[in-house]
Amino acid sequence: MINHIHNLFVEKFNREADKFYFSPGRVNIIGEHTDYNGGHVLPFCIDKGIFCGVNRNKNQVINIFSENYPLNGTIKIDLENLTFKKHDIYSDYLLGAIKELKKANCLIDHGFNICLSSNLPNGGGLSSSAALSLLFLVIFNDEFRFNLTKLEMVKMAKAIENDFIGVNCGIMDQFVIMFGGKNYALFLNTKNLVYENVYLDMKDHQFVLINSDIKRNLIESNYNKRQSETQEVLKILQKHFAIDYLCDIKAEDLDDHLAFVSDLTLKKRLVHVVTENHRVKQAKFAILENNYDKLGKLLSEAHLSAKDNYEVSSLVLDEMVELALQANALGAKMIGGGFGGSILVLIKKEELENFIEIYGNLFYKKYSKKFIYSLISAKDGIKQID
Ligand code: GLA
Repeated sequence: MINHIHNLFVEKFNREADKFYFSPGRVNIIGEHTDYNGGHVLPFCIDKGIFCGVNRNKNQVINIFSENYPLNGTIKIDLENLTFKKHDIYSDYLLGAIKELKKANCLIDHGFNICLSSNLPNGGGLSSSAALSLLFLVIFNDEFRFNLTKLEMVKMAKAIENDFIGVNCGIMDQFVIMFGGKNYALFLNTKNLVYENVYLDMKDHQFVLINSDIKRNLIESNYNKRQSETQEVLKILQKHFAIDYLCDIKAEDLDDHLAFVSDLTLKKRLVHVVTENHRVKQAKFAILENNYDKLGKLLSEAHLSAKDNYEVSSLVLDEMVELALQANALGAKMIGGGFGGSILVLIKKEELENFIEIYGNLFYKKYSKKFIYSLISAKDGIKQID
């Protein structure tokens, strides 16, 4: 891949890139929609992501080309005539990054050539947008020696989504893409941003990622609606309890809190957030105890809750999870925001061949096509590569 991005850069800009970067996608083992409710999450980075070549140029223009969006050609961003207007294309994340940096008095005063190539399925729920935002921030921070800390860049990347793109997401994706490490899942408390690296002993087990091929865009989905519903529940409960976030509620106190919420939909949202946060903690212990049967069960429970309580799944994702269980998976769930994207499946390594065959057959019977999968493990976060 490094050769590929190297050659692509030369082809587009007629010179060599000075630096190369890789910004990965992520999966979340468990803890969906808890990160904007002050809860825990358990994601890791994967080996698919965005490859990037970059060099400085002598003018005031950033030229950016993405192999994944060839029809956009080379987009030119004129630093002397900047308008922070969204165009609903990938370069919006670059504009958002420049805007955030400007707010922090970090000025970009000369141009670049940037070339991108991603092997993350677009809209696959693997967080390509957080990978992109962080990539730009890291490049500029390196180039201009802004001395931003990793955490500052993580927060800026989240602000790009929240304030510029318009997705009211939490901090999970940006955080793990920056801090994720090989063989570890990151157990993050999104309330205080304290995290632990949880070693994933995958000697006997395997995570499989299966793409639903349903592309989704969080802006157009009900993601922001779910976020505002949880804020509504929080406001109701804050009249009676001293809580800052829904995830301050312990699972054993859930019923006491539910009693104060009359709306059925809001009740379901509350059940999901509180039980899911509890499941993340149980999942961490299951991993530490090497109890992957238990971990699998938690994954499947998480999926059911995302489907029935939080209503962020989709028919195809539900069917795919069901097929995975029929093919002897230990557990399976949708990942990320939902409404499409991918599912994460946990299986025993010795079952791998069987699983692929049985799942493949079931999938073909149902959808008359081959399923798209990858075997994944925890990899490093964003980094410069040579
Ligand atoms: C998206 C958001 C994250 C998180 C997940 C759901 O990936 O970007 O902040 O809320 O959905 O867990």
